[in-house]
Amino acid sequence: MLKNIIKKTRDPEYHFFAGKGGVGKTSVAAATALWFSGKGKKVLIISTDPAHSLSDSFEKKIGGDLKKLDKNLYAVEIDPKKAMEEYKEKIMPKIEKIDFLKGLGMEDTFDYVGMTPGIDEMAAFDKFLQYMDSREYDIIIFDTAPTGHTLRFLSLPDVLDSWVGKMIKIRMRFAGVANLVKKVLPFGNPEEEGESLGTGQLEEMKKRIGAAKLILSDPKKTHYNMVMIPEAMSIYESERSLEVLNQYNIPVERVIVNQLIPENSRCDFCREKRKMQQERLKDIRKRFKKFRILKLQMFREEIKGSKTLTRAGKELYG
Ligand SMILES: Nc1ncnc2c1ncn2[C@@H]1O[C@H](COP(=O)(O)OP(=O)(O)OP(=O)(O)O)[C@@H](O)[C@H]1O
Ligand SMILES: [Mg+2]
Repeated sequence: MLKNIIKKTRDPEYHFFAGKGGVGKTSVAAATALWFSGKGKKVLIISTDPAHSLSDSFEKKIGGDLKKLDKNLYAVEIDPKKAMEEYKEKIMPKIEKIDFLKGLGMEDTFDYVGMTPGIDEMAAFDKFLQYMDSREYDIIIFDTAPTGHTLRFLSLPDVLDSWVGKMIKIRMRFAGVANLVKKVLPFGNPEEEGESLGTGQLEEMKKRIGAAKLILSDPKKTHYNMVMIPEAMSIYESERSLEVLNQYNIPVERVIVNQLIPENSRCDFCREKRKMQQERLKDIRKRFKKFRILKLQMFREEIKGSKTLTRAGKELYG
C-alpha cells in the first residue's frame, strides 16, 4: 500500500528514440514499453508519428484516445496534423486578425504558430507539457517520426521561451494582442473566450516551458537513445544528429545498434554481410565511446506483436 503511494508520487521518467527513417525506432520503443511494463512499471507510450506505426507494431488498434494495451501498459497515437487542423478550425477567425500584428515584428513568430511544418512538433510538445506533471505513470515513452522531426521538437522549448518572453514585453505595450496569441497557442485553451491573457499567465507559460526544458535536459529524468544500423550512412547521420542534440544540451545516453546479422548464419550472403557489420560495429564503438551501446539482432520475422516485442526487449535490456 505504502509502496503504491510512493510509486505514484514519483516523477515520471521519459524515453526518446531518435534515428534515421526505418532503423527501428518504433520497434525499439514498443519493445522498451513492453519490457518496463513487464517489470511492473506503469508505462505510457505516445506516438507522434502520423503513420500510426505503433498500432502495427503492437498489432492492436490504438488511435487518438488513450488505450490500455496490457495491465501496466497504455498507448496513444496522436496525429499532429489532424490535431492542428481541428485546432486551426476553431481559431481561424482570429488568425485573420494577424495582419494587424504586422509591423510589430511578430510575423516570424506567427510562422511558428501558423502554417509552417513546425506545427507538428508544436503538437508533440503540447503532449509533452500535458504529461509533464503527470504522476500517473512511471515511464513515458515517445515514439517520434524520423530524426529531423525529433530534433525540431527538442528545440521548441528554446523557440517558445524567447517567443513568450517577447510576448510579455509586447503585452506591456499592447493590451489585447496577447489575448489573441493565447487563442493561437496550441497549449492554450481555445474554448476560453473573452478573458484577456494577463502578463501573469504569460509568465506562467514561460515557467512551464522552462520546467519542460529542465526535464528534457536532465539525464536523470529523460533518456535519449540513438537508434542506428551498422552501415556507414546511418553512422554518419547519427553522429551529426548527436552534435545537434549536444548543442541543445540534450544528454543522449545510449546508442542502439539494430539489425545485426546473428552469428553462425549458413548462407554466404549473410556471412559476408555480418563481416561488414562487425567492422561497422567496431567503428561505432570507437566513434561513440561515451555512450552505452545496446545491440539488437536482425530477426527472421518482422518485430511485430507481443511475442517478438518481448524477445527484442529481453535482448536489449535483459
Ligand atoms: N531487428 C529487427 N529484426 C527484424 N525486423 C526489424 C528489426 N528492426 C526493425 N525491423 C522491421 O523494420 C521495419 C521498420 O522498423 P520501425 O518501424 O521500427 O522503424 P522506424 O525507425 O520506426 O521507422 P520510421 O522512421 O518510418 O518511423 C519494421 O517492419 C520492423 O518490423
Ligand atoms: Mg517509427
